[in-house]
Amino acid sequence: MKPLLCFVVAAGLTAYTTFTEKDFVSSNTGFAQRQLKHMLKETEMRDSLAFPRTTDAAGKMTTTSMYDWTPGFFAGSLWYGYELTKDPALQQQALRWTEKLQPLQYFTQHHDLGFMMYCSYGNAYRLTGNKAYRDVLVQGARSLSTRYNPVTKSIKSWNAFKSWHGEQLYRYPVIIDNLMNLELLFFASRETGDTSFRHIAVSHAEAAMRNQIRPDYSSYHVVCYDTINGKVLARETAQGYADNSTWARGQAWGIYGFTMIYRETKEARFLKTAAGMADWYLNSKNLPKDKVPYWDFNAEEKGYTPGVRSNTLKVKTKYRDVSAAAIVASALFELSGYVDANKGAKYRQAAIEMLHTLGSPAYRAQEGANGNFILMHSVGSIPHNNEIDVPLVYADYYFMEALQRYKQSLGIF
Ligand code: GLY
Repeated sequence: MKPLLCFVVAAGLTAYTTFTEKDFVSSNTGFAQRQLKHMLKETEMRDSLAFPRTTDAAGKMTTTSMYDWTPGFFAGSLWYGYELTKDPALQQQALRWTEKLQPLQYFTQHHDLGFMMYCSYGNAYRLTGNKAYRDVLVQGARSLSTRYNPVTKSIKSWNAFKSWHGEQLYRYPVIIDNLMNLELLFFASRETGDTSFRHIAVSHAEAAMRNQIRPDYSSYHVVCYDTINGKVLARETAQGYADNSTWARGQAWGIYGFTMIYRETKEARFLKTAAGMADWYLNSKNLPKDKVPYWDFNAEEKGYTPGVRSNTLKVKTKYRDVSAAAIVASALFELSGYVDANKGAKYRQAAIEMLHTLGSPAYRAQEGANGNFILMHSVGSIPHNNEIDVPLVYADYYFMEALQRYKQSLGIF
């Protein structure tokens, strides 16, 4: 969520001129601003505590309660909309949608407090400096910390996870997505001076590096722990194709997560992991030319077998997941500033190409269509037969974040 200050000279803008890039940024910014306003109109006709998430079969916006994992992304998108345009109407709505989430600071039922609070209140505090928002974030970090266990050295993601292979129920599942929630803990540690938040974040990151990342830097989605001895009981998938496959959004969370963890710790081992995961992603023979991944890098590949209960067995189409591409594009803008110049230029160029692809008619919606979301063609979870080839609020959030990072790096304010 951090804004990035890079220099145009480090840009590696081989294929694009700064002039056309300014046009690109401004046209996508204008589009996002208009779609957000259309969506705000639509929300006025709904329950005030219904948070935009995706669309139904008829292409109409659907929503969730604030206790799902995604309520913070709409407020966060409004904050990026405001930051990109300085439109006071967007700021006013961003404040409104952020403050609806105030009760979440005491929520402890799953691990997603980082997504829920840092994308909303985190951006609110960053852009307004209002100390009341800082206090909500610190309380949110306290709530998240209750899910940490020193035996597993990890934060419990969900209270239970049922294997796709049968009836086995695991009571301490940790998913790779959880890395993203650590940003809230690093923030709270900095703000309060209480190092226990940071200790939990680093300990969780180390366990993920040890148990969740494979030697070739691809990733497992779910690692299940034994709380008596801290041992790994199983490595499976919940939203990916198979246990040994690489779920595209999981890899994206890993790239973004370890980049953020390196920013917060400056420890080389985390940078090595972030870059290793990014290289694996960018160099995969299964990454399509336009760099928008299939929902799983190994979908339909020999040697990968879905669990018997997974809906994946019924889906033969290799859908793309735009949300993964948006997350990776944003992460690569940041990562490009932490590695040597050659690698940095490569990451930055890839991020720029991804942004252009996402902003093209292949993936960007027509104004007023797509339930007023910006991007089309994401996947929530094929194994659960849920949200297949749809817009998703978090795809839009990370696209706007990437756009803001790019804009700032071009020196356009
Ligand atoms: N964090 C849940 C997901 O990426 O679908």
